[in-house]
This record gives sequence, structure tokens and C-alpha cells, in this order.
Amino acid sequence: MTKKKILVTGGAGFIGGNFVQYMVDKYPSYNIYNLDLLTYAGDLAKHHEIEKKENYHFLKADIADREAIIPLFEKEKFDYVVHFAAESHVDRSITDPGVFVRTNILGTQVLLDAAKEVGISKFIHVSTDEVYGELDFDPTTFFSEETPLQPNSPYSASKASSDLLVRAYHETYGLPINITRCSNNYGPYHFPEKLIPLTISRVLNDEKVPVYGDGGNIRDWLHVMDHCAAIDLVMHEGVNGDVYNVGGHNERTNLEVVKTIINALDKSEDLIEFVKDRLGHDKRYAIDPTKLERLGWNPNYTFETGISQTIQWYLDNKEWWEQIISGEYKKYFERNYSLK
Ligand code: NAD
Ligand code: TYD
Repeated sequence: MTKKKILVTGGAGFIGGNFVQYMVDKYPSYNIYNLDLLTYAGDLAKHHEIEKKENYHFLKADIADREAIIPLFEKEKFDYVVHFAAESHVDRSITDPGVFVRTNILGTQVLLDAAKEVGISKFIHVSTDEVYGELDFDPTTFFSEETPLQPNSPYSASKASSDLLVRAYHETYGLPINITRCSNNYGPYHFPEKLIPLTISRVLNDEKVPVYGDGGNIRDWLHVMDHCAAIDLVMHEGVNGDVYNVGGHNERTNLEVVKTIINALDKSEDLIEFVKDRLGHDKRYAIDPTKLERLGWNPNYTFETGISQTIQWYLDNKEWWEQIISGEYKKYFERNYSLK
């Protein structure tokens, strides 16, 4: 029997990278193709343990490059596409929205055209809860799959646009699809520009941690391996055309998150520095995951177990993040923050 071919876009990044490793290990009977442009956010060093496996393949390509993507699909005839590749950082979308439109919207459209042309079993589009906009601080309100899309940042607007294209290719051309919308992920290989790895790496170096505004904004944290298991389930069991929200009821204010990390590392809370707020900073995200739970998903990590595991991973894998924060990232940090 020929092996099923799974194309994972953005498999050199944080979530896609964890997903590729999860799939290569769990499904020796599938061929996993990691397609990635290797932007600042992608690296292949994370895959040193799987790169020799015969069911893992790497393809360097730009998802927005139609001339490369369409012939690739015609040649390889992928069975599934799991689409993670994106520009993913809200702060970067505020200073440079153009690349978010190109990659997140046009790139998704190119992949949809390619998938339509060759006829795939399913296109899984990995989106975000940020497309729903923000919630207020009333703890009884949550995002459901029916919440209207009201994105506030250029990042979330580009993701919402791509979600609508995926929906339209399903409605118009009958392309088999699912859309997943997850809350903030954390875990191994999280790029240190995002709150949790930024805090861990800076606290370990005794550097100030920039907290936007008063630190009262709330995010609903999801361990990346719980997210990978959710996508696996949706890929195999999701109802064609459906949207699934992914979140584990782990709401924390940013200040709580930063203090948890500082205390776990036995450092001083004096490292916290309150800085100018992010423009258009969404107050609160919180997911109602009932629909996915009915499909059979439950998170394995609480925030407490997940954050301990993640801190330990950053302690054990200093080489990986030290090499990132010493390069181009350093200039990015200096441009965006005026901290010591
Ligand atoms: P990431 O920034 O860590 O990785 C993105 C990957 O995409 C990188 O490897 C990069 O090289 C690649 N890429 C970028 N542009 C490309 C292009 N034009 N062609 C091919 N590859 C390209 O992102 P992440 O945090 O792993 O997020 C993955 C997906 O999950 C994104 O679609 C994001 O919107 C979504 N998401 C992320 C979170 C989160 O908390 N990180 C939460 C919700 C949804
Ligand atoms: P981030 O990790 O960028 O994810 P997102 O914007 O997709 O939620 O930010 C998480 C929260 O942390 C968000 O409310 C902004 C805040 N934040 C800070 O307070 N300081 C920082 O340096 C960063 C990067 C984020």
C-alpha cells in the first residue's frame, strides 16, 4: 500500500515544528513533507533527531510562489495539507503589515488553488482565536465557533481573511476542509520574541522583562503538544467543512505569567518593567472548546504542569535559544524595546 502524503507548511516554526515531530514519530506509515521558506522564525536545527527518518522530507519553498507550489502539488499529489506557515507575531504586524497580507492571505490562496487542482482528502487550516477580536473581563464569556469574526490587529485581520478564503473554497468548489482556531500556544521551540520564551530567556540572563500596559491583559494558554493532538484528531475525525476551537481553560493575566516564571526560576520580581502598551492591545482571549471535546479531545497539560515542563526545556536547551537571541533577533529587540 502506498504511504499517505501529508504536507505540513511552516514545519520549521514553533507549532508546525512540534507537529512534524509528533507526526513523524506517531505515524511511520505516513510520509511527512515539511514545506517552509525558513524565514527568521524557521530553523531546521530543531529537527536533528528526525531528519534521517525515511518518512520525513523537507522542501524549501515560499507558499506565495505560485510557480513553485502548483507544480509541486501536481508532482507529489499530497493527500492532506496541514497549513501552519504564516507571519505570526502581532507586534511585527503593527510595524510591517504588508508581509502579513502576502504570506497569510495570498500564500493561503495559492495553497488552496493547488489543493483544489489535484484534489486532496483534506485541507486543515490552522488559525487563531484572535480572529474573533477581544472579550471583556467577564469570566463567563468565551469565544465559540459561532462568535463573529472581528479581528483587531493586522495579524488577526490577515488570518481572518485566510479563514474566509478557506471557507469559500469549501462552499464554492467543495474542497474538503477544517479550520482550527486555537488560543496562545507555549512549549518547546517557541521563538523568544513571544511573551513566555521572551520572559524565560531574559530572566535567565537577569535582564528586564517588558510587560505591556499594566499587565492585566488575559490570554488562554495551550501547551503545544495538546494543540498537536487536537489537529491530529481534527485531521482524522473532523466533520468536513467544520471549524473547531482549541483551548484548555488556562486563563492568566500577563503579569501572572511573568511572575510565575520569575518565581519558578527563583529570581526577583524587580526584573519586571512596565512599558508602553501595544497599539490596539486585545484585552482578553478565552476559548470554549466544547465542540472539540465532543470529538474526543482533552488537554493533558494544566498551565502549572506545562509551564514547569517548558521552563525545564529552556534550561536544558540553552544552545537553541541563545543562538537565536544573539543574531538578527538582537537588532529586532533593540528596535522595539528600549530596555537594558
Ligand atoms: P512561527 O512564526 O513560529 O512559524 C511560522 C513558520 O512559517 C516559520 O517556520 C516560517 O519560516 C514559515 N513561513 C513564513 N512565511 C512563509 C512562506 N511565505 N512560505 C513558507 N513558509 C513560511 O509560527 P507559529 O507560532 O508556529 O504559528 C503557526 C501557525 O499557528 C500560524 O498560522 C499562526 O497564525 C497559528 N497560531 C499560532 C499561535 C501561537 O500561539 N503561536 C496561536 C494561534 C494560532
Ligand atoms: P504574544 O506572545 O506576542 O502573543 P499574542 O499577541 O498573539 O497574544 O503576547 C502575549 C501577551 O503578552 C499579549 O497580551 C502581549 C503581551 N506581551 C508583553 O506584555 N510583553 C512583551 O514583550 C510581549 C512580546 C508580549
